[in-house]
Amino acid sequence: MDFRERIVKTETLAKDIHLIRIRSEQITGKAVPGQFVNVRCSNGLDAYLRRPISICSVCPTDKTFDIVYMKRGKGTSLLCGFCEGDMIDVIGPLGSGFTMPSAGEKIAVVGGGIGIFPLLYLLESCNGVNKTAFLGFRSKDAVVMKDAFEYASNKLVVATDDGTFGVKGFVTKPFFDWLNVNRPDRVYTCGPLPMIKSVAEHCVKKKIFCEVSMEQRMGCGIGACLVCSCKVKEGPDFDYARVCKDGPVFPAEKLIFE
Ligand SMILES: Cc1cc2nc3c(=O)[nH]c(=O)nc-3n(C[C@H](O)[C@H](O)[C@H](O)COP(=O)(O)OP(=O)(O)OC[C@H]3O[C@@H](n4cnc5c(N)ncnc54)[C@H](O)[C@@H]3O)c2cc1C
Ligand code: FES
Repeated sequence: MDFRERIVKTETLAKDIHLIRIRSEQITGKAVPGQFVNVRCSNGLDAYLRRPISICSVCPTDKTFDIVYMKRGKGTSLLCGFCEGDMIDVIGPLGSGFTMPSAGEKIAVVGGGIGIFPLLYLLESCNGVNKTAFLGFRSKDAVVMKDAFEYASNKLVVATDDGTFGVKGFVTKPFFDWLNVNRPDRVYTCGPLPMIKSVAEHCVKKKIFCEVSMEQRMGCGIGACLVCSCKVKEGPDFDYARVCKDGPVFPAEKLIFE
């Protein structure tokens, strides 16, 4: 089967953070927020395993979707070599999406680093909802897509670890302060493990609906190899769920963070 689709735009958003816009009738026709695509990062045998990247934004009119990735290792370095006009081998949409809020509800999204990208698609997809976005980055140099998040939400709070932009410190601090005076109907989070763990545990304690998008290392990406397992509660016991097939989105109360 041919999964190749045309790249219509590439852009560098910050050091080591790149956007690829891909035209695909198939993927844009089916995608929901929270899902991801599995990308072959080279046309040869290099980085043979596909790499999972979240769907960050979809334009139904142009039949295009954006992925934004951080250059980290072999796969994502190879991705940097793709240009506008190239064909890219991409399978999707894969995995489960977020539970969408209903009109009139109040939601908060809490994202850190590369975990912010699936949250933009979520914000852009819900109308008539009161949306507050909390985004955390290492420093000012790493802040990306601020305008898009500002446009897609009613209120945006940015935090940087070193205080070079927005609130100083981890993004969980302004989020928890906000939670002291607000009770959202739903919270969605994606990002580094300590951040999602802390957000999830806080929401569970306060009995606030919370969904977590997990970013586990993957092998096959289709539920066959179990490389992406994460520990989940199963009655009084625990079990393992596959992030690629059973997730990447899980209810906060189901996850066991270790
Ligand atoms: C469902 C899902 C959605 C994702 N969405 C995005 C996205 O929108 N944008 C983005 O930039 N990245 C995203 N990722 C992470 C991305 O898949 C990895 O960064 C990528 O596979 C790294 O490949 P590589 O060959 O460049 O790096 P590798 O050479 O494989 O690894 C380089 C370094 O990154 C670490 N690493 C690799 N993969 C992961 C991972 N999944 N989680 C934590 N650490 C990892 C390795 O331990 C190593 O230190 C997502 C992952 C999942 C599972
Ligand atoms: S990556 Fe193989 S089962 Fe999830």
